[in-house]
Amino acid sequence: MTTKSPRPIPKRRVCNRSTMQLGWLLLLSLAHGTLSQRANDTLLWGPYRPNLYFGLRPRIPQSLMTGLMWFGTQDYQSVIRTRHACDQGDGLDSYTWTEYDTREGGVQVIRDSQNNVKITTEFIKVAGGEHGGSWAARVKGEPIKSDIPSRISTIFYFGLEGFGGLEMDTDEDENGIVGEFKLSGSTPELDDFIIRVVDGPANKPVTEGPHSGAFKDRIGKTHFIGKPVPSGNIWQAKDVILKALIDRAREVVAPYQDPEAGPPDPSFILQLPDEVYTGSNLFAVQKLFTGEFQFDVFFESGSSKQKLSPSILDQGIPALVEAYGSRFRSVFPYSTDFAKDQQESLEAFSKAITSNLVAGVGYFYGTSIVDRKFSYEWDEEEDTIQAPRAKDDEDGEQERGEQGARLTDPKALLTATPSRSFFPRGFYWDEGFHLLHIGEWDNDFSLEILKDWINLIDDDGWVAREQILGEEARSKVPKEFQTQVPNYANPPTLTMAVTAFIARVKAASPSGPSAQDLGMNAQMPLNPPVTAPGSQYLEQPELALDFLKSIYKPLKRHYDWFRRTQRGQIKQYSRVARSRTEAYRWRGRSEQHVLTSGMDDYPRGPPHAGELHLDLISWMGFFTRTMRDIAGYVGEVDDELSFGEIEKAILGNIDDLHWNSEMKMYCDVNVDDDDESYHVCHKGYLSLFPFLLSLLPTSAPQLGDILDLLRDPAHLWSPYGLRSLSAAHPEFGQGENYWKGPIWVQMNYLALGALHKTYAAQPGPHQERAKEIYKELRKNVVDNVFKEYQRTGYVWEQYDAITGEGKRSHPFTGWTSLTAMILAEKY
Ligand SMILES: *[C@@H]1O[C@H](CO)[C@@H](O)[C@H](O)[C@H]1NC(C)=O
Repeated sequence: MTTKSPRPIPKRRVCNRSTMQLGWLLLLSLAHGTLSQRANDTLLWGPYRPNLYFGLRPRIPQSLMTGLMWFGTQDYQSVIRTRHACDQGDGLDSYTWTEYDTREGGVQVIRDSQNNVKITTEFIKVAGGEHGGSWAARVKGEPIKSDIPSRISTIFYFGLEGFGGLEMDTDEDENGIVGEFKLSGSTPELDDFIIRVVDGPANKPVTEGPHSGAFKDRIGKTHFIGKPVPSGNIWQAKDVILKALIDRAREVVAPYQDPEAGPPDPSFILQLPDEVYTGSNLFAVQKLFTGEFQFDVFFESGSSKQKLSPSILDQGIPALVEAYGSRFRSVFPYSTDFAKDQQESLEAFSKAITSNLVAGVGYFYGTSIVDRKFSYEWDEEEDTIQAPRAKDDEDGEQERGEQGARLTDPKALLTATPSRSFFPRGFYWDEGFHLLHIGEWDNDFSLEILKDWINLIDDDGWVAREQILGEEARSKVPKEFQTQVPNYANPPTLTMAVTAFIARVKAASPSGPSAQDLGMNAQMPLNPPVTAPGSQYLEQPELALDFLKSIYKPLKRHYDWFRRTQRGQIKQYSRVARSRTEAYRWRGRSEQHVLTSGMDDYPRGPPHAGELHLDLISWMGFFTRTMRDIAGYVGEVDDELSFGEIEKAILGNIDDLHWNSEMKMYCDVNVDDDDESYHVCHKGYLSLFPFLLSLLPTSAPQLGDILDLLRDPAHLWSPYGLRSLSAAHPEFGQGENYWKGPIWVQMNYLALGALHKTYAAQPGPHQERAKEIYKELRKNVVDNVFKEYQRTGYVWEQYDAITGEGKRSHPFTGWTSLTAMILAEKY
């Protein structure tokens, strides 16, 4: 129904009238609804290897990959603990991007007390040319304690995957080189480029030490290696590089056996061999320092014709930090509900977690493992073909038969990651939360990510809940969790990103850019709005509409897949409900776990083909409601009506099937030995679902009981946020204790969102109470996550139900970063 006509593209820079007119003429000649290539170019490069402390790559399946490694040279052992991939075992005090902008670059601070070094990595993108622009990176180090040695060796590497070539331009020298190190290369997508590694002004090598005289030709030089590495193996660069270093070191140190004279200083020995093999596609550059150090890496895209120099970082980084700070304050304004004297530190915290979430976005490419045959006995329907059955071992966990597991074709995915150290890959149910937060900062970037996820929806409508793409990603996952099964679901959160986008589009043009309006406004506005970068989809309603239309079909296929594959039974157990169709059950659960629900070990009844899950029917109510919104927005009128009917049926059935009036709570449903239906009631997050997803009307008679449960310190309420399981529950804190008490920030975020947008905002018998609870809960969550960040240097996967202490993986700057959204009241 769109009327096609050219629409002006508002400019992002403020400029004077005459250049503006020129701009308009130019822009008028563009086809309608175009995303400018230049804006998209700014997203080509990024720290898209967030599993590394510092790993830059472009958003291209097979291309250039870079990485930073370092170790201490104060002894011979530190090289064994070389830092490269984020690892909790490294015991770093902290590492986080303090500022990171999707389009410009940013700054990361890494504190490594064991090696007595604070490392700062700076990264700045430089637009220009036809191939995605250039960039510069700076690695700086300084001692944490000045009274003890800080002796660091850094290795920065460049590896090329896929077509193209890379070669060393600097003259080789078997003792290392002095001055800049230069590579030139070319790939089909990046075209010609040059890489230079340049020393800072005041670096000092280790010159004194046992046997220094024997090594004087090598001291103070830059060392290197070039090696051929088979395609697909660049991710193992650390192993390849360290092997070369250690092999050489063994040889060099061999003559120094005399215990009296002792071995040479490690920094004279732990050096790369200064060799380049033919056909090398992996190059590493090593520098050895004592005390403060600095070096720069420049990637110059050939077509941009711009030679980069240190001044781009000297000036660019302070400007970037400044601009980031002021934009941050406007996007995430500081709340006067928090103390004035905390403002600086809370803002820095908020910036850091937001930056780390955004800089935690990775680009993954590779195969995954899917088992199309796997099934549990309770998941089999009478009318499906018999599949090999899964057995449960003693722990009630499935034994995965190898026979059905197959590698898929390679796929690409741009995605945020829950934890750079522990979960450096895409997770379906986390991603909806991530995108809410990322979309506040850079709408268009969040859409690029969303688009990649939507592209993963297969012909049946299925998406694997964990995206473990490629060998590198798989290397982080225990074997029993690598296989994905096509009838397993996960909470459908991606639609949260879609509705948040629609809300932003509406806010950007409040008159409502309905499809009919679009052709009418051919008149150009005199002063186009000057808006934030990454907002082209908000500035051009046509572009927004095209985007929503393009994802509507696959989303609907995904929705239909949920309804078809996760359906629960009603009439078989003579259950009474208004709708005969709307009931749901997670497939793929085991005796002990419902991993698909996202709340892995939350107590449920025994597995049974007749059980019904409250959280899933609630998610389906939410999914249906968001699909109705989207259908309405893209003008799918019939769909909108039918979604509306399904939504109504689901809301009715939540009450008919899941409300237990004696217990005064919502419950799961199961079937006993006499085939009678009964409620399975465990007080915790599960009980709150119809409230968490704002499915209950403000006038619902159940609301008061839900608020009682939530606010009761004997059950879910703690000074640190809502507990996952009631403190009075017999299983509270037991077993794995993953979802049996600990506090999860994203669930608190849902509760706060429901209160803020619905129950405290709209009139109803519980409005005043909802307001109070909102205020207290918000403060509790923010204060605790912040306090723990200050105490430990990290944000955590979850927080202890009794003490509030951070628990499990860290840094967990996936959905725990929502704390910044809570602080700024963005729901
Ligand atoms: C932006 O660029 C990336 C990678 O170069 C590409 O995959 C993506 O489709 C582009 N997006 C748009 C909207 O052009």
